[in-house]
Amino acid sequence: MTDTKKSIHGEWSSRFAFILAATGSAVGLGNIWKFPYITGENGGGAFVIVYLLCVAVIGIPIMIAETMMGRRGRQCPINTLETLTEEAGANKNWHYLGWLGVVAGFLILSYYSVIAGWAMAYVVKAFTGSFSGESAAQISTLFSDLQASPVQQIFWHTVFMVTTMAVVARGVQGGLEKAVRFLMPSLFVLLMLLVAYAMTTGAYMQGLEFLFKPDFSEMTGDSVLTAMGHAFFTLSLGMGAIMVYGSYLPKGVSIAKTSVLIAGADTAVALLAGMAIFPIVFAHGLEASAGPGLIFQTLPIAFGNMSGGWLFGVLFFVLLVFAALSSAISLIEPAVAWVVENYDVDRKKASIGMGFLTWVLGLGTVFSGSFFEKMDYLTANLMLPLGGLFIALFAGHVMLQKHTQAELALDNETEYVVWKFLVSYIAPAAVFLVFLHVLGVFG
Ligand code: PFF
Repeated sequence: MTDTKKSIHGEWSSRFAFILAATGSAVGLGNIWKFPYITGENGGGAFVIVYLLCVAVIGIPIMIAETMMGRRGRQCPINTLETLTEEAGANKNWHYLGWLGVVAGFLILSYYSVIAGWAMAYVVKAFTGSFSGESAAQISTLFSDLQASPVQQIFWHTVFMVTTMAVVARGVQGGLEKAVRFLMPSLFVLLMLLVAYAMTTGAYMQGLEFLFKPDFSEMTGDSVLTAMGHAFFTLSLGMGAIMVYGSYLPKGVSIAKTSVLIAGADTAVALLAGMAIFPIVFAHGLEASAGPGLIFQTLPIAFGNMSGGWLFGVLFFVLLVFAALSSAISLIEPAVAWVVENYDVDRKKASIGMGFLTWVLGLGTVFSGSFFEKMDYLTANLMLPLGGLFIALFAGHVMLQKHTQAELALDNETEYVVWKFLVSYIAPAAVFLVFLHVLGVFG
């Protein structure tokens, strides 16, 4: 393979553009909506520590592996795996790993879009002043009313899917790069503002304690699996999203440094979200384990009670929708790139087709909470870690050392050795052990 190979879909305009796009993919509903509620359901601090450990030991090495594989293969994950398998002279079945990812992305987006639709509905609620001066109970009713209305949910799910596919149809550079450039810093600032509000609730320390003080007696095998699954989910790993973004990455960019930066930013956003939400939960006597409605039942209380909260509420939910959008496009990009590469179909038609399929599946989540739960468990807890396990094995044991070394071009030998060790042994072993643990092998 020559160094000059480029993706037919184009390239990011710079290293910074890739960082923005990959951070845009990583930072999303997973950080602000999912991280707080699963932390609440799984007892707090101990769960957070396991999640952080998974990010560091499994997530970062696999992010490096995925980006590296994408840049070397320069195609959608399925075709990239085919090319890299050939290059390494390995068994052809490896390309099924690409398929696992494409299917996972499609399944995740189906429910992701419904939740992003809730955030859209909340932009309107914030705008019309629905939160102002309301009690925690009244705010909770707003959420249950939305849950009880399939028509509203389908409406917003449709708006979100159409927007996502419109961005995907425009391709790598058009629109997306510009949107995330403004989005990321603004989101950060607003989260800080919410944390500042949380400090005034009187339950700030209680919130922090819940988030950071570990009580390992609360941890079950399933909580460990959820924490690990979330590390994959939040970093967009295990399904080829980062791989496909890596395939648009110009040569010469340091993949390792970039990955650490992206994982760091992603983690910071999740922790800030937790620091904003839990104090509000405790100050208002709400349940930390309220589930997927948690942020929708807590943050509006803050907006309803702070001065200028109307404006901040609108801004916050708009930014959340943008954060979801920049993740959603990466969920479906592997599938769209695959269609474009393999069939005589342009990007626009491929986007419409894939978007429609996803939309239909999303109706399952609109009509049934248990459908969402099963889908979430299947994708985040099983498919992504399984995908990640095989990606790690592929990068560590199947690809030739001279190729991974050349592609990563690390500053010194030690960095390469550390990465190679983590990706070849530690990350796969960790995923494997957690799976065994859940199966009850350790009693
Ligand atoms: N990382 C996104 C989030 O935290 O919201 C979700 C996601 C995007 C998961 C892309 C997987 C993926 F490939």
